[in-house]
Amino acid sequence: NLPLCVKDILQINTNSTPVQLNGWIDSYRLSKNVAFLDIVDGTTSESVQCVVRPPSLLPKNIKSGSSVKIDGLWCEGRGKQNFELQVSDKNNTESSKPASIEIMGTVTDLFPMINKNHTNKFLRGIPEYRLKNPSLSALLRFRSQVETTLVNFFDSQNFTKTHPPLITASDCEGAGELFKIESASKIPKNEKFFGKDAFLTVSTQLHLEVLSAALNRVWTLTPCFRAEESDTNRHLSEFWMLEAEIAFIDDVNQLTNFAELMIKSVVFNLKNNHNNMGTNLINTVDKSLVDMMKNRWNMLLSKKWNSITYTEAIKIIQNHYDNENNTAKFTIRPNWGDSLQSQHEKWLAGEYFQNPVFVTDYPLAEKAFYMKINETGRYGELNKTVACFDLLVPEIGELIGGSVREYDLTKLTEEINRRNMDITPLQWYLNLRENGSVPHGGFGMGFERLLQYLSCTNNIREVIPFPRSANNCLC
Ligand code: 4AD
Ligand code: MG
Repeated sequence: NLPLCVKDILQINTNSTPVQLNGWIDSYRLSKNVAFLDIVDGTTSESVQCVVRPPSLLPKNIKSGSSVKIDGLWCEGRGKQNFELQVSDKNNTESSKPASIEIMGTVTDLFPMINKNHTNKFLRGIPEYRLKNPSLSALLRFRSQVETTLVNFFDSQNFTKTHPPLITASDCEGAGELFKIESASKIPKNEKFFGKDAFLTVSTQLHLEVLSAALNRVWTLTPCFRAEESDTNRHLSEFWMLEAEIAFIDDVNQLTNFAELMIKSVVFNLKNNHNNMGTNLINTVDKSLVDMMKNRWNMLLSKKWNSITYTEAIKIIQNHYDNENNTAKFTIRPNWGDSLQSQHEKWLAGEYFQNPVFVTDYPLAEKAFYMKINETGRYGELNKTVACFDLLVPEIGELIGGSVREYDLTKLTEEINRRNMDITPLQWYLNLRENGSVPHGGFGMGFERLLQYLSCTNNIREVIPFPRSANNCLC
């Protein structure tokens, strides 16, 4: 009962089928005897070519960007297109409506999308029109396809997709990057809507752990919010995080192997063009990017990804810093215990391994309170490390962060106290360790960063429809 979309129409392969097409004029060419219209509707990167004979059938005031409803005959084409929509006063049959072109919405001379060469930065300033840009709409279709692939992947691994809350009273990461929620309406000044402070979630992990204690293998894909001011090409204030939590695992390698399988399943679909995922992207980008993308997908599937400990990572970086020419061109030489800077992460994955790399077992002081502490000196380190991992990828750096969780009540309480954290808001989380506690672990992956990486997109803002960052909430 829905009107046909461009994607439906392109699949019709019987000659002379009456078709009604709805869409927007992408471009047009007029000549004396014939006019050509290219019509798009966003369901695919492809367009439908309409051949109009005589051109007098065209309404006046044809402009690209106008929305149109066109009745014609879907016929085998004479040009390079297999099929085209013929709009002609000659081929009206009794069974089809008369050929016609109706303009539903005209465009003004000020319509900014008439110019097709705007920069991404300019487009971000016109959020109401921006997504009509063919590359950006291709990225949104890609986003939808990747999500579907992930839904299928987790289903095949016997996970339940769950729906943890976005409003929470806990700061999962303890990094103080929370947005506080306040009612904009009539709550008396000194009262709090929830009776206490409440925030937008930075990560749904704590609630996922509760869900995992009931459903074992759980995952979710939700918005997360972080009030971090870093204005970079890989940070957003509102981003989507894919999080998974798995019961009965106690080893970081179980998590890294699983995360690798998950990403490879997406890339496999992409490379084999399932559901046109590959062509969707390839059709809309520069030739130079196409090779880069294909190489990246091939590399990702070519071998098992490396996994090194934080301690090994520090040694590798130090060695390259110290060598005579500092070939890696680092500005900072990290010591054991320092955090890996973005320059180090990008170099490790991008230049040293030239593929994603897992870095495991970071120093305790670098990571959040819930991570399971390794026995001291597991890898000969001086200080404590935790059973965690980051997945670093070329050009972006951190794509995933995850860990085995501390499931022993005494040890977890000790660590929370050692950090001088307020234990009261975490009581519910601690209770979980009191009854039927099990070893478990999980991870969180920045969904936009995955899309950015797989599509070789430079700025994270291009893979989300309405990017939010500090001083940037246009509509
Ligand atoms: O490393 P993070 O902070 O890990 C957690 O929040 C864990 N609680 C997840 C878990 O174990 N369930 O964030 C996970 C990922 C990062 O690796 C990064 O890809 C992404 O979330 N991320 C961001 N993406 C875009 N913009 C931001 N501001 C981001 N902050 C984190
Ligand atoms: Mg992290």
